[in-house]
Order: sequence, then C-alpha cells, then structure tokens
Amino acid sequence: MIVDKGNHRHFMSKEIHEQPEVVSHTLASFVDMVDETIRLPENLPFDWRNLRRLTISACGTASFAGMIAKYWFERYARLPVEVDIASEFRYREAPLEEGGLAIFVSQSGETADTLAALRYCKEQGQHTLAVVNVPTSTIARDSDVVVRTLAGPEIGVASTKAFTCQLAALASLAIGAGKARGTLSVEQERELVHALIETPRLMAEALHLEHEIESFSRDLAKASDVLYLGRGTSYPLSLEGALKLKEISYIHAEGYAAGELKHGPIALIDETMPVVVIAPYDHIFEKTVSNMQEVAARGGRIILITDAKGAAAASMATLKTLVLPEMPALVTPLVYSVPIQLLAYHTAVIIGTDVDQPRNLAKSVTVE
Ligand code: G6P
Repeated sequence: MIVDKGNHRHFMSKEIHEQPEVVSHTLASFVDMVDETIRLPENLPFDWRNLRRLTISACGTASFAGMIAKYWFERYARLPVEVDIASEFRYREAPLEEGGLAIFVSQSGETADTLAALRYCKEQGQHTLAVVNVPTSTIARDSDVVVRTLAGPEIGVASTKAFTCQLAALASLAIGAGKARGTLSVEQERELVHALIETPRLMAEALHLEHEIESFSRDLAKASDVLYLGRGTSYPLSLEGALKLKEISYIHAEGYAAGELKHGPIALIDETMPVVVIAPYDHIFEKTVSNMQEVAARGGRIILITDAKGAAAASMATLKTLVLPEMPALVTPLVYSVPIQLLAYHTAVIIGTDVDQPRNLAKSVTVE
C-alpha cells in the first residue's frame, strides 16, 4: 500500500488531521450507533463478571493510553487495574491470580518489551487481550483476543492517531466491562456511548483551533524546558503531551500530576518556563486553578487548555487560554489530545527538526 502525505507537509500533520475519521472507524466496531449501546467481541474466553483485577502493559505512548484506561475501568467497571510499562513489568515477577485478564496495547504489535510482558502473562495463566493496530503482528497472533484499532498505517514516528484510536477502543472495552459487570445502568451506558459517538465531531472542532495553537507554539519554541500539568485522565495526557514535545522538538519537557507540583517541579518555575495546563472544567478544576496561581506567582507563563467554563473560572492576567467545546469527562482525553499534538507539531516545525523521523527514535522497538 502506498501512503502519501496528501496536502500535508508531514505525515504527522496528516495523521493528526485523520483522527476524526479513524477514531470514528475504530468506534464503529464497538458501538451500535442507532441503539447507542456497546457491542463487545463475542465468545470471549473470560467472563468480565468474574474478573478481580486487570493488568495493562505497554510502552511509550501506548502506555499512556493504558494509564488513561485505568481511570475508565476503575470508574465505569469498578475493576481494579494495574498498569505498568512493559520493560518494568516483564522483570518484576508480579504475582498474578490465575484466570485474570491482561491487556497489551501496541500500535505495531512488535514491541519487544510488550511481547515479553505478554509471554510472562501467558505463563502465569492470564487471559490475554491485545489492542493493536497491525492485525498480523506477533502480539496480535499470540494473544487470546485481538481488539483492533483502525488507525490505518501510521508513518510519523511520534504516535498520534494510533493513540486516540487506542483510547477509543479502551473506552469501549471499559464501558462494555461495566455493562457486563452490572456497574453501569442502561441509561449510563447510553450516555457514555452517546459521548463516544460525538467524539469525532469534537475532535474536528479541536482541529479548527490550529492557527491559534500555532501562535502559542512560538512561545514554546523559545523555551528549553516545558512543564505539562493535569489531574485525573489529564494527568496521563500531560505525560503524553510532554513526550510528544520532547520526541519531535528536542525540548526538555515533563508531565506531572498537578497535585504533585508542590512536591518538586515548583522549584523549576520561573519566567522562562512555559507551563501547559490540561484542565477541562470539572469537580477538581478549582484545585488546578490554585496550582496555576502558584505558577503565576513565580512568573511562570501558562498555556491553559480548557473549555468555556474553565476559561471563565480561571481568568488570570498571565494566562493564554485555548478554549475547546464542553464535553463529557469520558471523552476529554481523546479530544484534548488534538491540541496537545498540534502544539508539539508546530513547535517542532518552527524549530525546524525532522518531525516525521526524529533523531535516535524508531517507530517500532523490536529489540530491548
Ligand atoms: C516507539 C515509538 C512510539 C511508541 C512506542 C510503543 O517508542 O516511537 O511512538 O509509542 O514505541 O510502540 P507500540 O508499537 O508498541 O505502540
């Protein structure tokens, strides 16, 4: 198959822009659009109702999809989740109860550490489920159940559309698990599925902010360090935001849980350090506002990614605000991924790095 850049300057840009479409395709395999219900693969070798624990392993961006999924499985399916990067998990000799479920998330399906984690889990009598983009891959072949992301070929080394498709698949699995375990009512399931169905449209709206994001990137391009903060599912997304920026622009960036600001990173804040805050308006928004006040008091320059309610609640002089549509909490990681990716992309373009083939990185890491 020949894949070209279309009208885009880089594959990464094309792949960011493809997200409404590929997320929609991925969701179509799990969601009944008319009834607004979840349809999970049938004849699973395990029963969601009997599971006591879920183990998720992955590397890089896929591991952040796993971290976000932990919030969803725990919240909607009341299922305790352990999530770990595969290179740690594979050597940790974690005790696993026979008959548990282990999920592996991988775009390529060939990452050596994730494959080793899969093999360990099989030896430990776990049921294995792979969320993969390449259906012919080793991880897909070796797993009991394969859940496909339909992102299509991803060429840019820094993952974008594969990540949001992983999120779409994992959100569907979490809702399906909640339905099977009886922790979600029919009405709750419908509300969540409705939110998923709306996601591609919201992602397309987020793409319309590209010009504004590009102007914010000028500020980031001058920085040598950038801090990303978030709470809840925006915490793993802040890790992903920092990873995206460092991968392609070579600017040092760190993601932190906003509540941890006081426990270290606040020491770094001065007027040279941009702080990207990912904070949709929610029940803990006020806590994030107080973190932003701490940053502002030390001269830190904040880029706040939020919605209209958040923008109104956080008005501060030193703030640059990017306003996304309001949306249910379930889908914020998918939609907020778009500005996070565009911010990294435009920063790298301004700096002039090789966006699609960043130095020292490989698309698929098949050796340890
Ligand atoms: C490499 C890639 C990342 C990817 C990670 C895991 O580091 O550069 O974009 O997230 O591997 O790859 P996988 O194929 O398992 O998702």
